[in-house]
Amino acid sequence: MGRIIISGASGDLGRRVTEILLAADPDIELTLVSRTPEKLYKHKTPGIRVVRGDYQEPDSLNAAYAGGEVLFLISGLNLGRRVAETQNAIAAAKHAGIHHIVYTSVGGIHPNNPALSAKDHYQSELDLRASGLGYTFLRNALYSEIISNILVAPALASGFISQATAEGRLAPAAKADVARSAATVLLEPAKHLGAVYEITGPELLTFEEIAHIGSEVHGTPIKYVPISADQRLTFFDSIGIPRTYDPSMPPSADGHMWASDELVTAEVAIAEGYQTVLSGHVKLITGRNPEYLRSVMESVKSVPYDQIPAEVS
Ligand SMILES: NC(=O)c1ccc[n+]([C@@H]2O[C@H](COP(=O)([O-])OP(=O)(O)OC[C@H]3O[C@@H](n4cnc5c(N)ncnc54)[C@H](OP(=O)(O)O)[C@@H]3O)[C@@H](O)[C@H]2O)c1
Repeated sequence: MGRIIISGASGDLGRRVTEILLAADPDIELTLVSRTPEKLYKHKTPGIRVVRGDYQEPDSLNAAYAGGEVLFLISGLNLGRRVAETQNAIAAAKHAGIHHIVYTSVGGIHPNNPALSAKDHYQSELDLRASGLGYTFLRNALYSEIISNILVAPALASGFISQATAEGRLAPAAKADVARSAATVLLEPAKHLGAVYEITGPELLTFEEIAHIGSEVHGTPIKYVPISADQRLTFFDSIGIPRTYDPSMPPSADGHMWASDELVTAEVAIAEGYQTVLSGHVKLITGRNPEYLRSVMESVKSVPYDQIPAEVS
């Protein structure tokens, strides 16, 4: 097996995938790339290289991807920059002689999907298809951990989840299943060349059903209250979140630059049915049934989102 480049290796998904690959083969050749290589230095096995690379600095990527056979391209997070960043990564992969890119896309890819992040990933999928490189797309559904700890847990205080998701359904995916699927693909990439996988959990749920699960798991009633997109934007205005992305806006506490148009269009996409995607691909890839939202919620309910350890879910 040739060298695998993990780009975005310092993040949660990158760390999980790195651990699974090392557990499968301690001698595996991996290059771990991010803007913050100091977060990666704990990996000391002989096959591991740790390199700084920034999606906004093409030269850094050319150097970082050298010697790679397969690139696990974990996309950046910032709307407005992500498409160009992914184009830089694709160009650097070509420059490095990489044959195959495994790309983290998003569920609900469709030219009419109103979610701004889905538009980015749709464009990046087109760019990858046009690049002449081999590809595998992992279209990851909304993480169960985000639903559990960012949407449900904060609603315990008020007892309400108010969103512009109407009666739309989605099949949240456990991060463990997303990571295990990605690692399995990376261990035998030729088997997955050209595949487009929908990485989903095992069941489609409305937010009313999600609120019900949250109520049972936490032992506190939570009610889902659908609101309009305009009402949701007004709420985000009231807590100081800008409407649109602006490259000069200050990053939030997690270092990302969120704007309410990205958040609300993602909710509208759920309302309009673009996330009504349920697949058997996790089982197909990994041989294991994906985890239910209830099970993830029970595991992580008392841990802040950014402190969920990989082994918990
Ligand atoms: N399905 C979902 O619910 C969902 C939710 C959120 C995100 N996502 C997607 O899932 C993927 C990763 O998720 P995650 O939980 O691992 O996110 P994460 O923990 O925030 O990790 C993001 C990674 O991207 C790297 N990165 C960001 N900007 C970069 C740049 N300009 N140049 C180089 N590296 C950069 C970060 O590294 P440094 O900061 O160290 O450079 C980090 O390693 C991303 O593709 C993201 O868009 C999916």
